[in-house]
Amino acid sequence: MKAIILVGGQGTRMHPLTDHLPKNIVPLCGVPFLTYQIEQLKKAGIQEIVFSLGYRPHDIQKVYGDGRRLKVKIHYAIEKEPLGTGGAVKNAESFVKGHPVVVLNGDILTDIPLKKMIAFHKESQNTATLGLVRVEDPTAYGLVLLDRRSQITRFLEKPTPEEAVTDTINAGVYVFEPGVFDLIPKGQNYSSERGLFPGLLAAKARFGGFVWRGYWQDIGTPRKYLTTHWDVLNGAFKIPMKFKALKNKVHIGKGVRIGKGAILQGPAILEDGCVVGEGARILPCAVLGKGCKVGEGSVVSKSVLWEGVQVGEGVQLEEVILGRRCLVPSHSRLSPGSVLGDDSQL
Ligand code: GTP
Repeated sequence: MKAIILVGGQGTRMHPLTDHLPKNIVPLCGVPFLTYQIEQLKKAGIQEIVFSLGYRPHDIQKVYGDGRRLKVKIHYAIEKEPLGTGGAVKNAESFVKGHPVVVLNGDILTDIPLKKMIAFHKESQNTATLGLVRVEDPTAYGLVLLDRRSQITRFLEKPTPEEAVTDTINAGVYVFEPGVFDLIPKGQNYSSERGLFPGLLAAKARFGGFVWRGYWQDIGTPRKYLTTHWDVLNGAFKIPMKFKALKNKVHIGKGVRIGKGAILQGPAILEDGCVVGEGARILPCAVLGKGCKVGEGSVVSKSVLWEGVQVGEGVQLEEVILGRRCLVPSHSRLSPGSVLGDDSQL
C-alpha cells in the first residue's frame, strides 16, 4: 500500500507562523511535523509516500528530499493552483495508479491504528473508508453518522448542540480504492468533504467509517499547535528524535549551557546550543529550539520558541509561540497567548 499526504494548504489560521513555513513542517517538539506522520505510516508497513504540495513546495522538498534519510520513498505531486482536498488527491494519482491508497490530511496527529483500519476497509469491501474520531464538543466539526454495519449514512456540518446526535468526526485519514480517483475531476479545485464524500453517498458506494477512540488532534491553529506540544511532552506520542541527555524530564541537545542557579523542570526540551542564563527557570512544557538564549532570571513555561530566539533578562513567557530568531528585550512583557512570526522584535 502507498500513501498520499495532503500538504498544499496555506495554513491561514496559523498566520503569522506559516508566513515563511508551510504548516505541515512546523516543528513539533523539535521535529518537522510530517515526520510524525511518516513514522506512523512506516509502522503500518507503508514506505512509499506521495506529498501532494502547493504552498511553498521547495521548503518541504528541502527537508525530506527523496525520503532516504527516513528510510522511505517520497514522491512530490506539485500543483500550480490550489486544487482543494479532493483535487490534490487526484493530482497524485499517477504515483499510485491502480492501487488502493491511504490518504492523510497533513496536519493531524493521531495514533489511529492504520493496519487495523486497512484490514477493516478490506473486510468490509469498502470503496472508501473514513477514519473517525470522537470529540467532546462535536458542534465545531462535521459529524459523520454510521449505521449498524459501520457504513456512512449521513454527514452533518457544524450542527447545533440539539442536532449533534453523534460525536464522531472525520479524522482526516482515509483509505480509497483505485476507483475513487475516477470520481474526482482532473485539474479542478475540488473538495473531498463537499464533493467526493456526498458523491459516494449519492452513488450508494460502500463507504465505511472506522471509529477510533485514541489520540487525535489537528494542529491547524496556534492554540491547538501549542496544546499538541503539551500532549506530546506528556507522553501522548514518542518524539522521533534522539536527544543527548534527559535530566529531570528535560530533553537536552548537544552543547546546551545552563547558568548558575538556573532551574530546569520537565517535561521540556532544550535543543542543541541553547543557553540558559543564571537563575533563569525553564518550566514544564517549555520547548526551546536550536540556539535559543534565555537571559538571567527569565522564566519560560508552556511555550514554544523556534530556533534562534533571544530572550533578554527578567522576562516571563507563558503560553506563547515565538517564530525563528525573534528578539524579546530584557524586562519586556508578552501576554499569554501571544504568537510572533519569524524575526519579530518587540
Ligand atoms: P487553513 O488555511 O488555516 O484553513 O489551513 P489549510 O489551508 O491547511 O486547510 P485545511 O486545514 O482545511 O487542510 C487540511 C489538509 O489538507 C492540510 O494538510 C492542508 O495542507 C491540505 N490542503 C488543503 N487544501 C489543499 C490544497 O488545495 N492542495 C493540497 N495539496 N493540499 C491542501
